Amino acid sequence: MGICRETLRYNFQFVILTLAVRIWIPSERRRIIDALGLKPGDRVLDHCSGLGGNLRPICDAVSPGGHVTAMDLSPEMVRAATRLVRRRRLPVTVEQGDALQLPYPDASFDAVVHTGAINQFGDRRQQAMDEILRVTRDNGVIAIMDESMAPERVETRFGKFLIKQNPMFLDPIPTELVPPGVEAKVERVMAGLFFNIVFRRPARTA
Ligand SMILES: C[S@@+](CC[C@H](N)C(=O)[O-])C[C@H]1O[C@@H](n2cnc3c(N)ncnc32)[C@H](O)[C@@H]1O
Repeated sequence: MGICRETLRYNFQFVILTLAVRIWIPSERRRIIDALGLKPGDRVLDHCSGLGGNLRPICDAVSPGGHVTAMDLSPEMVRAATRLVRRRRLPVTVEQGDALQLPYPDASFDAVVHTGAINQFGDRRQQAMDEILRVTRDNGVIAIMDESMAPERVETRFGKFLIKQNPMFLDPIPTELVPPGVEAKVERVMAGLFFNIVFRRPARTA
């Protein structure tokens, strides 16, 4: 009987996880990316692109005529994203690059989308943000999303479980990365587990 209950619980957790990964997370990503105001023809950098989960919704937003660059440090991630792009025939260039020293000229992109790595950069977060600001054109869109759990979630069973797996869920929202005087939309997304900061790059001074 004990084994049976364990098996049921395991199966239930597996189903929930599968639904989250296959349906909920992609639909949340799309909702968040759709709200960025990207336009057909835009050049967008998917910064630290990983497996490429953002690529389909970004491509949909900038088509026709847009172009997406996916950049990641890890050769394995670059290979995985390249496979995805080929399979789905997406207008994406996948490249290896370091977020702390981006291999692009100034003002190369109309928008930079970052999900999921800024917390890992620790005391090099500002360096990563300075590089994002450098490659974004004046008035271009910058969107940064990563873990930061809403206070009311922290003490829940689910919250404690996630924090045990990844203590960065306790990181505060890094609003200090927004340039001084710039108005940013700051919100918690994905059921209050992540932050999302969106702002427009201020114009360069001569
Ligand atoms: C948690 S994954 C997020 C991937 C993807 N953006 C997503 O939302 O699914 C973090 C990614 O950041 C990449 N990464 C970490 N440090 C990096 C760096 N210095 N430059 C570029 N990519 C980096 C990792 O290789 C990994 O693919």
